[in-house]
Amino acid sequence: MDKALEKFGNDIAIAFSGAEDVALIEYAKLTGRPFRVFSLDTGRLNPETYRFFDEVEKHYGIRIEYMFPDAVEVQALVRSKGLFSFYEDGHQECCRVRKVRPLRRALKGLRAWITGQRKDQSPGTRSEVPVVQVDPVFEGLDGGDGSLLKWNPVANVDGKDIWNFLRAMNVPVNSLHAQGFVSIGCEPCTRPVLPGQHEREGRWWWEDAKAKECGLHKGNLKEDGAAQVNGNGATTESDIFNSQSLVTLSRTGIENLAKLESRKESWIVVLYAPWCPFCQAMEASYVELAEKLAGSGVKVAKFRADGEQKEYSKNELQLGSFPTVLFFPKHSAKPIKFASEKRDVDSLMAFVNALR
Ligand code: ADX
Ligand code: SF4
Repeated sequence: MDKALEKFGNDIAIAFSGAEDVALIEYAKLTGRPFRVFSLDTGRLNPETYRFFDEVEKHYGIRIEYMFPDAVEVQALVRSKGLFSFYEDGHQECCRVRKVRPLRRALKGLRAWITGQRKDQSPGTRSEVPVVQVDPVFEGLDGGDGSLLKWNPVANVDGKDIWNFLRAMNVPVNSLHAQGFVSIGCEPCTRPVLPGQHEREGRWWWEDAKAKECGLHKGNLKEDGAAQVNGNGATTESDIFNSQSLVTLSRTGIENLAKLESRKESWIVVLYAPWCPFCQAMEASYVELAEKLAGSGVKVAKFRADGEQKEYSKNELQLGSFPTVLFFPKHSAKPIKFASEKRDVDSLMAFVNALR
């Protein structure tokens, strides 16, 4: 912790929400170095959690840098699907709006972040969390893959040792713990657990255990575990790349596009799967690209290439892994594949400009 704070100074911050994170703040304080703390206020936290956040601020004499969801996005979600849509079609969409996108904004201003993830918090998704890693999903200040480090200093620490430390240091904790809550997130998606139940059973209890990541730590999910399964066993992942500036191609649509020897306009197409964390990570840049290219003579499109479209996409569209980005030039049948893993808007635009 000391080395990380020394190396990254103002460009590193602790992601704060639960008991582990108070331990991180306490450690940071013990180093004597200045440190930053941010938290994602989803608007759906328990009143006890807000009181706890306030206590932490007062106890340490700090200001937590709260990140809020985009009001227009929350409004659109709640107006179209109601306040509790996650019980019907899974938590991913709401988490994306209320947590993941604000997190992405926060991380864009950092070179490293510190989390309180522990391996034994979620055997299904966290058993391989390393102490330090290049963030597999999010981008930092400099943009592009590899631009953000992620510290998980308590990855190998047991929950009971965290609690021993918190009691020894006499620091504030969320009063919900005294009511049987262990892992605490948003109010509608968190409940207390019984002795002997795993802490993760108190989160998104109506969903499959393998999908219990809200997206903050998407890199923990393997491909198979990332698709969200509801109580009936059906996959209900909501779609991504939703923008009026983007064309949604059907199988026939992309077959026709791929057949043409020459086209009126050139096209850029992303082959994606909505559950794929790397596709989700490039969502904002790709939508921005579509908005920038609107009316420019380059069409921006998406084709969902998982499930029964996967074989076709592999055989005919050079699909290797998700996402695959293809450029269909005006006067050639053969699409050109975007080879870089830097999928920020400037890199995508440079690719388009070089080929249009
Ligand atoms: S979650 O992904 O399921 O919500 P969890 O509650 O286990 O995460 O917390 C793991 C770590 O993620 C925390 O120690 C903290 O570093 C970070 N984290 C979780 N929720 C938030 C939040 N609302 N704001 C900031 N960081 C968070
Ligand atoms: Fe929405 Fe629940 Fe996710 Fe909170 S945890 S952002 S309420 S789905």
